[in-house]
Amino acid sequence: MSAGTPFRLAILISGRGSNMIAIARACLAGSIAARVAVVISDRADAAGLAGAAALGIETATVLPPRAGGGAAFEPSLAGALEAHRPDMIALAGFMRILSGRFVDHHLGRMLNIHPSLLPAYRGLHTHARVLEAGDTQHGASVHFVTAELDGGPVVLQSKVAVEPGDTEATLSARVQATEHIIYPRVLAWCAQRRLAWREGAAWLDGRRLDAPMVEDFRAAARS
Ligand code: GAR
Repeated sequence: MSAGTPFRLAILISGRGSNMIAIARACLAGSIAARVAVVISDRADAAGLAGAAALGIETATVLPPRAGGGAAFEPSLAGALEAHRPDMIALAGFMRILSGRFVDHHLGRMLNIHPSLLPAYRGLHTHARVLEAGDTQHGASVHFVTAELDGGPVVLQSKVAVEPGDTEATLSARVQATEHIIYPRVLAWCAQRRLAWREGAAWLDGRRLDAPMVEDFRAAARS
């Protein structure tokens, strides 16, 4: 990328797209020095598509075969991405598992947000599982995507308290509010070229992150 060329983000969604909107708004406000080049959904009915269009962002839909798309889902997705030459791809509630081959092709250029304090609770239904386990804290993680599901190096986590009486809905709302803060923050570091992928690890400001950084929201919620 030559100096002065805007950093380009592609965002992949499957649903509501609240993280995508938070990222897009941060770009428009200038707190991420980037522009959202495209929002791509694997579902035609993803509510986030309308939200992105309302912000003037180009959208695309790449459907898997069972939803009426062609057999070559990942090549189509790769083509849609390449058409927009993203510097970074942000998975934001993208609920499809990508193949090792696809991930390896984009290694170091793809981030994800996952609703748990990874490595705890990889996979689905994280809020319900946290409640069932009786955990007292929960959160979200922004991590580089590797071929291991929800297993790539974590850059930044948000920590929230599990409150007495929490339901899946209240807990997920509390976690999501923090996702809208930490994901734009990490993408801002990317756009500033402060965050990099090197030797299979995340590096911030030239230092290897051997443990994730943590933003603790537990005190903030009580005050
Ligand atoms: C977010 O909470 C995100 O952490 C989660 O889906 C939600 C999407 O919300 N992602 C995963 O569970 C990925 N395994 P959004 O569409 O409103 O951003």
